[in-house]
Amino acid sequence: MKPITTKVSPTGEISIGGISTKTLAETYGTPLYVIDYATLEANANAYLKPLQTLYPNSLVTYASKACLVKGLIAPLAALGMGFDVVSAGEIITAIKGGADTNKMVFHGNNKSKEELELAITHNIRIIIDNETEIKLLSAASTKLNKKARVLVRIKPEIEAHTHEYIKTGHIDSKFGIDKNHILEAIRTLNNDSNIDFLGIHSHIGSQIFDIEPFVDLAKIMVGHMKRIKDELGIEIKELNLGGGIGIQYTTADNAPKIALVLEAMIKSLKESLTEHHLNEPLLMVEPGRSTIATAGVTLYEIGTVKTTPGLNYVFIDGGMADNPRFIMYKSLYTFELANRANEPATKPYTIAGKFCESGDKIGENVMLPDTNEGDHLIVYGTGAYNYAMASNYNRFCKPAMIMVKDGAVIELLKRETIEDLLKNDV
Ligand SMILES: Cc1ncc(COP(=O)(O)O)c(C=O)c1O
Repeated sequence: MKPITTKVSPTGEISIGGISTKTLAETYGTPLYVIDYATLEANANAYLKPLQTLYPNSLVTYASKACLVKGLIAPLAALGMGFDVVSAGEIITAIKGGADTNKMVFHGNNKSKEELELAITHNIRIIIDNETEIKLLSAASTKLNKKARVLVRIKPEIEAHTHEYIKTGHIDSKFGIDKNHILEAIRTLNNDSNIDFLGIHSHIGSQIFDIEPFVDLAKIMVGHMKRIKDELGIEIKELNLGGGIGIQYTTADNAPKIALVLEAMIKSLKESLTEHHLNEPLLMVEPGRSTIATAGVTLYEIGTVKTTPGLNYVFIDGGMADNPRFIMYKSLYTFELANRANEPATKPYTIAGKFCESGDKIGENVMLPDTNEGDHLIVYGTGAYNYAMASNYNRFCKPAMIMVKDGAVIELLKRETIEDLLKNDV
């Protein structure tokens, strides 16, 4: 749950990537998103290394919706990652950051004509979500006179044990084509001379701890490959099994080892392929959270500490706008005082933000030492879906983001200014 470089000094000060959090907070201000390169690298390699031996014909695309800024692209690309993107904004950011478009995959359940044209122009694989998109895609590729490289997203109808809002593979999900319409969709795509139909995709949800859903998913998707071959005579060249492996936010989370999930999923995939006499397709996976969540922390400065008859509140200089996951999902995190980490955590606190909303909290019953104004709070596991979902609620400026590596800082994102906020006001 903590970055692998996290250390506590004899005086109780936490450092990450070889730099004290005090120095980081003083130099870059708070709230501050900090990404530890060593952890990011280890998380990426937790996919890339096992796949090199288990299934070399594979491509790992980082689900950039988890956290995307230009400066994250080159380090991840250098490790061998491709990128899964869901908007024109993510496409352009990834390209400007140096992503290889041949290793990019474009998602979305309501892609615009312009987004489809952008993806086709850059030769990015497009994951088709529905029948309307097939028509738009056909028109876009005809207009550009360029072949679109396409996979079809299928609802695998698996209920993964995760939060309601992050289940995507079940039958009423807004994502993907249901099994009764797959053949028709693929027939249409395959008959279109402007479309290069490559394969099928599915993603069953996020923050999944069980291995079985991934084992079942591989089997189910090979079943679709078989049906497509038998009924349409089309061999699936590429199979994308999505992302979703869970991570440890608190000690209560029993996150699986990535290598074990991959091992079990690939065993299931290979057995099913053999059973149905099918060739091995290119295998793609799209990890987001498990690549970056534990690499990221957020640093805050504590202002007021307020006691009510029932609660001890700690007010931080951020909150729901830089970390909306608590208010959205009641997500749990691990917290420490970054400047007093060797003191016993004796008192329960509610960690509340500075936004005009009673629900503006990022933690409840958080045990900390007796806390004072001016202490620094560190929240672990905030690398994924924090900055990515941040807002300017109450017209607050979004925090800065830095990466720490071997005692050095790489700036990823400047702190927003009020001038930035006013830039588009007319
Ligand atoms: C299609 C798709 N792929 C990959 C992911 C990444 O999931 P995670 O961050 O849980 O790995 C998501 C996120 O929901 C997704 O929708």
